[in-house]
Amino acid sequence: MRILVINGSPKRDKSDTMHITGAFLEGMQESAHQDIQIIHTIDKHIEYCTGCFSCMRNGGKCIHDDDMENILGEILAHDLILFSFPLYCYGMPASLKALLDRTLPLSSMAMRKAGDRYEHIGQAEVSHLRYVMICGCGFPNSQQNFEPVIMQFKLCFPRNHSIITVPESPMFNAPEAAVVTVPRLELIKQTGRQYAKEGEIDASLLAEVTSPMIPEDQYAAIVNSSV
Ligand SMILES: Cc1cc2nc3c(=O)[nH]c(=O)nc-3n(C[C@H](O)[C@H](O)[C@H](O)COP(=O)(O)O)c2cc1C
Repeated sequence: MRILVINGSPKRDKSDTMHITGAFLEGMQESAHQDIQIIHTIDKHIEYCTGCFSCMRNGGKCIHDDDMENILGEILAHDLILFSFPLYCYGMPASLKALLDRTLPLSSMAMRKAGDRYEHIGQAEVSHLRYVMICGCGFPNSQQNFEPVIMQFKLCFPRNHSIITVPESPMFNAPEAAVVTVPRLELIKQTGRQYAKEGEIDASLLAEVTSPMIPEDQYAAIVNSSV
């Protein structure tokens, strides 16, 4: 599979979340050879969408001349788009959101009813694409935290998506937390293997992967003792 990883962490390869993504990709690699390319959004020149809609009316041409045309080409040339990013203010970091907004040229202005909502009709052929979201966060709780970004991802990519959210992610960059992070990364590897083989992740495995590694109050106490 041709996999395009879009890393939205401004910490680049020092990202807590990229530990999770790395383990997931390792698992996928164990199952079959994968061709992996990584884009770090923080390295890219991506102007903000101005909302002019000329890309939707003008055969997909944006008014900006920056890295986005090339990124759109990369997206279309891959099979799986893996968005790896930390939760920022219950959403995605700004550099990634700028990239997502600028995928507008893939859609046309025309819309159609899809179930109980409307969606734009594509200008580009994207039916071959699968989408994975891997999101880490700094709080120990998943509820009242990840919901907005999960909903956004599902609405943006209603088909062929899988979502992995992991709380307490700063522990992946803390060697003293290895006793809980190493087994969790093994579990995430298993998730990657399963995804590569079956194209989806079993709900019970996902529940294990997305649970806190240590009890919420213990995590909060450790964080608070270090500030
Ligand atoms: C601007 C900003 C906003 C954040 N917002 C949230 C949040 O809404 N919920 C949360 O649990 N953690 C939040 N965090 C914590 C990060 O998600 C956490 O530190 C994560 O592990 C960073 O991952 P990374 O190393 O992959 O960038 C925020 C951090 C920053 C810098």
